[in-house]
Amino acid sequence: MLRAIYPGSFDPVTYGHLDIIRRSAKLVDHLIVGVLNNNAKMPLFSAKERVKMLKDVTTALPNVEIALFDGLLVDFAKKMEARVIIRGLRAITDFEYELQMSQTNHKLGPELETIFLTTSIEYSYLSSTTVKEIAAFGGDVTQFVPDEVRRKLEVAFQTPPNHLS
Ligand code: PNS
Repeated sequence: MLRAIYPGSFDPVTYGHLDIIRRSAKLVDHLIVGVLNNNAKMPLFSAKERVKMLKDVTTALPNVEIALFDGLLVDFAKKMEARVIIRGLRAITDFEYELQMSQTNHKLGPELETIFLTTSIEYSYLSSTTVKEIAAFGGDVTQFVPDEVRRKLEVAFQTPPNHLS
């Protein structure tokens, strides 16, 4: 039984993340989406809200579990009995950070392997940061995030959606 972790901040989950979740869930028996509970990163959404959004958008995926973690990813992986970490790679700019992280994690937990999935081309430019910036200025994020998330962003930024105003 292959158990894997897809870790991240997911502040908030985008269609890019969802693409990686769907594709990973087909490759492994059980996928744990690990949501980092780290207030030092000053997230827009609380850990609880990020977990709820992820749960809402993955209900159709029976082998996907959403779990909160803090501390080291390797410790969380051990606790969850996962042997594989999955990360999405968008562009060359992601590579240096991802390489450093995977090599550090491998040093800390030699039994853990990181597998990279390249993001689907239509999401290669997408990031939670960009989505938040668009939403903050009242832009339409319909094509970037699921409806549940769009509504949460609108509430967070207290802006009516552009396409309805
Ligand atoms: O979506 P993000 O913010 O790029 O995800 C980064 C994440 C959560 C995968 C990374 O910050 C992480 O694993 N943090 C846990 C702390 C840790 O284990 N650090 C050592 C690895 S470099």
